[in-house]
Amino acid sequence: MTTFRIAPSILSADFARLGEEVRNVVAAGADIIHFDVMDNHYVPNLTVGPLVCQAIRPHVQVPIDVHLMVKPVDRIIPDFAKAGANIITFHPEASDHIDRSLQLIRDHGCKAGLVFNPATPLSYLEHVMDKVDMILIMSVNPGFGGQSFIPQALKKIEQARRLIDESGRDIMLEVDGGIKVENIAAAAKAGADTFVAGSAIFGQPDYKAVIDAMRTQLAAV
Ligand code: DX5
Ligand code: ZN
Repeated sequence: MTTFRIAPSILSADFARLGEEVRNVVAAGADIIHFDVMDNHYVPNLTVGPLVCQAIRPHVQVPIDVHLMVKPVDRIIPDFAKAGANIITFHPEASDHIDRSLQLIRDHGCKAGLVFNPATPLSYLEHVMDKVDMILIMSVNPGFGGQSFIPQALKKIEQARRLIDESGRDIMLEVDGGIKVENIAAAAKAGADTFVAGSAIFGQPDYKAVIDAMRTQLAAV
C-alpha cells in the first residue's frame, strides 16, 4: 500500500508566528514541512533562507523538505544541511552540474531531488536516477502560492511514476502547486505520493479539518 504524505508549504503561513504555525500544522497531521526558498533571480519572488530553516527546526520533528528556487544552487546547499534540512530539491535549469549538486546534497547527509517546471522535460533524470530520492513535479510555474493547478501535470506525474517503478528504487514522487481537497485524489491516482499544499491548508482556519479531508480523499484512491 502506498504511503501518502501531506507536506504543507510554509509560504502561505503567518511568518510573524512561524514556529507556532509549523507546530500547529504538524499537530494537525502534516507529515513533512515544505520550505520554499526563492531568490528573486531564478523566480520573481523572495522568501527565506537557512537562518529561518534553523529557527523552525527545533519546533518540529518531521522532515523539512527544502525546495530551492535559487540559481546557482551549490553554494547554499551546505548551509541548509547545517540548518536541519532533511530533503533538498532543486531545479535542473538552475545548476550547471546537476550530478554534482545531487551528490553535494547527499554528501551533506540529506535526501536529494530534482524539480520539474511545467515545461521542463523529465529527460534530465536519465543519467541520475541512482542519485535521486525525490522527484518533484510542479503543477504551477514556481514563484507564488495560491495559483491554479495545471492539469497537464497529471500526465507528467504518470510518466515519472513509470520511471520510478522501472528503476526499482524507493523515490518519493511529490506534486507542488494548486493542490487542494478537490484535486488531491487525481494527483494520487496519477502516481504522486507526497502532496505539497500551501494556501489550501494555511489559508483555512482549521488545518486539521483540511488535512483530514485530504486523507479521506486519499483513502479512496
Ligand atoms: C510555488 C511553491 C509552492 C507553493 C504552493 O512556487 O513551490 O510550494 O507554496 O502553494 P499553493 O499550494 O498555494 O499552490
Ligand atoms: Zn514548493
